[in-house]
Amino acid sequence: MNAPWKVGPQGNRDSFAAFICDETSLDVLRPVVIELGWQPEKCKKGGLRNAVQSLSITASPNILMVDLSESGDPLNDINALAEVCEPGTIVIAIGQVNDVRLYRDLIASGIHDYLLKPLSPAQVRDSLVMAQAVFAQPKHDAAGTKRHITTAVIGTRGGVGASTLATSLAWLFSADNKLPTALFDLDIHFGTGALSLDLEPGRGLTDAIENPSRIDGLFIERAMIRANDNLAILSAEAPINSPLMTDGAAFLQLEEEFRHAFEMTVIDLPRNMLINFPQLVNDANVILLVTEMTLASARDAIRLLSWLKANAPHAEVMVVANKVQGGITEISRADFETSIESKIAFSIPYDIKAAANAAKLGHTFVDANRASKAAAVMRDVAKAVLGSADDDDVIDSGSRGKKSLLGKLDLKAMLPKKGKAAAKDAAMSEAAIAAE
Ligand SMILES: Nc1ncnc2c1ncn2[C@@H]1O[C@H](COP(=O)(O)OP(=O)(O)OP(=O)(O)O)[C@@H](O)[C@H]1O
Ligand SMILES: [Mg+2]
Repeated sequence: MNAPWKVGPQGNRDSFAAFICDETSLDVLRPVVIELGWQPEKCKKGGLRNAVQSLSITASPNILMVDLSESGDPLNDINALAEVCEPGTIVIAIGQVNDVRLYRDLIASGIHDYLLKPLSPAQVRDSLVMAQAVFAQPKHDAAGTKRHITTAVIGTRGGVGASTLATSLAWLFSADNKLPTALFDLDIHFGTGALSLDLEPGRGLTDAIENPSRIDGLFIERAMIRANDNLAILSAEAPINSPLMTDGAAFLQLEEEFRHAFEMTVIDLPRNMLINFPQLVNDANVILLVTEMTLASARDAIRLLSWLKANAPHAEVMVVANKVQGGITEISRADFETSIESKIAFSIPYDIKAAANAAKLGHTFVDANRASKAAAVMRDVAKAVLGSADDDDVIDSGSRGKKSLLGKLDLKAMLPKKGKAAAKDAAMSEAAIAAE
């Protein structure tokens, strides 16, 4: 019976109310309530019975603190309270019975926390802050299950368009699919996640790196910047003279918080971050490897695919070619695919007008150019990411080869042989054969 207080939609409700039996506890509670920005008048004298009476005629608050001290049968009375409380209310019980069984029963009945008297300001504050964070989290569906997809977008080389794809996907998930989405820009010094949406990055990510212990649901709620109703961004524009001082724990903790607070996380993950923080891909469900059709990109696609196979074997990896110009790629698609031993899952055309339009409008590429072919392919990528969660078979069975990818690399063979160079090459190999 774990859910009389199942989290549900929020109406015009008070943020907080308390029904407390004794003045001593009220004296501890009121300053903390003021500190958290609530009205002290919401701390009323009275216990569980008063709470039930009051809430049967008024809307229940987001967070309710209720004193069980005068209740002969707390569990039973709590159930009475559940009947008058609206879904979504987070209930903190207070009592003077130090009994672990009662505590467990109360928690099992849907109570968020049980505080033992005499109350201390720190204990009350911690519990209320935690309750706020729980309340701020996205709501679970009726079955209590919530899926989350973490997508890491990695470029094989600089400038291939990884950030363009990351911001576009985040926009599609949040604006088109209406899914609560976090865009996590891990290009700490040069990130463009906020810039592409014409926003200031704020200090959120910098604060998180400097004070990882502060990271919790409430922190991310405050530290992230909003791009639309469903899209929040965590990014930085760290000064160029300030090196990245972190062991990476903050990043993992943030990823964890995103999993609780959102349904989609898109990580703009510069490849150089993988060197120091390989654990960043530990919990990625989908990894999009963005590449151009060049020799250098082919080499690094091979190396990254091989690395991902070892470090993120659970993730579905898809290769996305970007800036593809029909007929004039440095390396043909067939050669590229053979060399990386993987299919190109999506091919986004080069469209400089669309890129210019996005920059001019301060919108994501996909949002600024709805009718373009490039945006259509990006929407297909978004669909594939969303579909990946429903298709467990896809995960791990992808097109990644089993052999050593680097061993297969024949860079020379991939380059077009033309004119004199080709003739010289042919002559050299004939000479080599003759010499054998
Ligand atoms: N399909 C495309 N057609 C034309 N221009 C594009 C396309 N995709 C991205 N661009 C442009 O390429 C430039 C680099 O893109 P972006 O910043 O997304 O690359 P990146 O891989 O994140 O680079 P960095 O290595 O700096 O992080 C941007 O100016 C962007 O507008
Ligand atoms: Mg980038």
